[in-house]
Amino acid sequence: MKLWSGRFGKDTDALVNKLNASIGFDQRLYREDITGSMAHAEMLAAQGILSQEDNAAIQKGLREILSEAEAGELAFTADNEDIHMNVEALLTARIGDPGKRLHTARSRNDQVALDFRMYVRREIGGVIGRILELETVLCRQAARHQHTVMPGYTHLQRAQPVSFAHYLLAYGQMFSRDVTRLEDCRRRLDECPLGSGALAGTTYPIDRWKTARDLGFSRPMGNSMDGVSDRDYALELLSDLSILMAHLSRLAEEVILWCSWEFRFIELDDAYATGSSIMPQKKNPDVAELVRGKTGRVYGDLMGLLTVMKGLPLAYNKDMQEDKEPVFDALDTVNLCLPVFAAMLDTMHVHPEKMRQAAGRGFLNATDCADYLTRKGMPFRDAYTVTGKLVAACASQGKTLEDLSLDELQQASDLFDADVYDSLNLENCMALRKSYGGPAAEETARQIRELKAFVAEREEKPE
Ligand code: ARG
Repeated sequence: MKLWSGRFGKDTDALVNKLNASIGFDQRLYREDITGSMAHAEMLAAQGILSQEDNAAIQKGLREILSEAEAGELAFTADNEDIHMNVEALLTARIGDPGKRLHTARSRNDQVALDFRMYVRREIGGVIGRILELETVLCRQAARHQHTVMPGYTHLQRAQPVSFAHYLLAYGQMFSRDVTRLEDCRRRLDECPLGSGALAGTTYPIDRWKTARDLGFSRPMGNSMDGVSDRDYALELLSDLSILMAHLSRLAEEVILWCSWEFRFIELDDAYATGSSIMPQKKNPDVAELVRGKTGRVYGDLMGLLTVMKGLPLAYNKDMQEDKEPVFDALDTVNLCLPVFAAMLDTMHVHPEKMRQAAGRGFLNATDCADYLTRKGMPFRDAYTVTGKLVAACASQGKTLEDLSLDELQQASDLFDADVYDSLNLENCMALRKSYGGPAAEETARQIRELKAFVAEREEKPE
């Protein structure tokens, strides 16, 4: 019999039960549900709404249910619809009347709002930890490759020389923003919805500040209707995870390009690559491709929940039961992708000579040639034109700028001198780009230092 069967004259249709039941997925919330109920009962007892004896029985019963659930010994049933009614029914079956008093001054609406919020809060910590591990791998690879010259691209055309460290550290910046975005999300969700009731609070003299504090929140949510119907934190989490996946997907795309025969900048470790069923020579970057592909499903999770929430009138609506699966799916996806991706990057074999070779072709030092003339007094726009003509001449002869003799250079401008070859040297081109945030080794060393500090700060005191 259903907990809410009081006003019904018939059993629910079987298909309706199937549609309505969420226990299949919301059993993931059992820990939060039980913890929330314990805090609620404690507060009811402290306020004299529940007797100390009833509270003691409830606490003991819930503790047992929790440890059995942790041990995987509990069977939840679809007859009880969702995790909230499953736990309550289990409790009542064990302790009788006190179990029936637990739901005093509470609704499943504030209960689920609390459970889901606490679940998201906990999961954010896990995701942050995994991003920090990825950042540690980036630091490790970057530290090895501060002097590894490679082409930097715009429009996927070779542009200016950078180091492999600089390239990886650009992703480090993105992942740090992903971390602080998740921290922002956690800061904003730090209000407790418990005590909002069904939507309009309660007539009982509850203490919302106590439950908020006991459950690790800074304060109760300020409006009971918002309390039961806000899912912003889930949308924020999904947005944050979507942006994180966008970053992983961009790096995945680089990895796929870099290990193609066209680039050959890296080779993946055998443990992080796969073969073909027909072509014996193939070694495919499936990990990177799958991460790129799974980005689509995380975006789908975000779009799904945004669409569920769109146009819902206040306060609780059953539509909102659809909030959980996209969040679970996005978390599962991200939690799988992050460690695999980190391990793939940690074990990849880098080919600095291939990167250097690629950087040697494509006139990556053309800007430096123009800068040279500018330093000698020519206005930059004129220096740009002179260099452009030299590039065109070289391109048609299959030469590089540094292949040109001083005579040939001086025919283009008498400002050229023997020291121009130093300016055209790629290692120098990179080393001289010491502007803040640039690819010079001093600057990548600073970036590595700061990224390490960012990680260490958080690993020392994870929230
Ligand atoms: N299983 C529901 C959910 O996930 C719990 C809240 C149900 N409340 C209600 N009034 N039917 O949203």
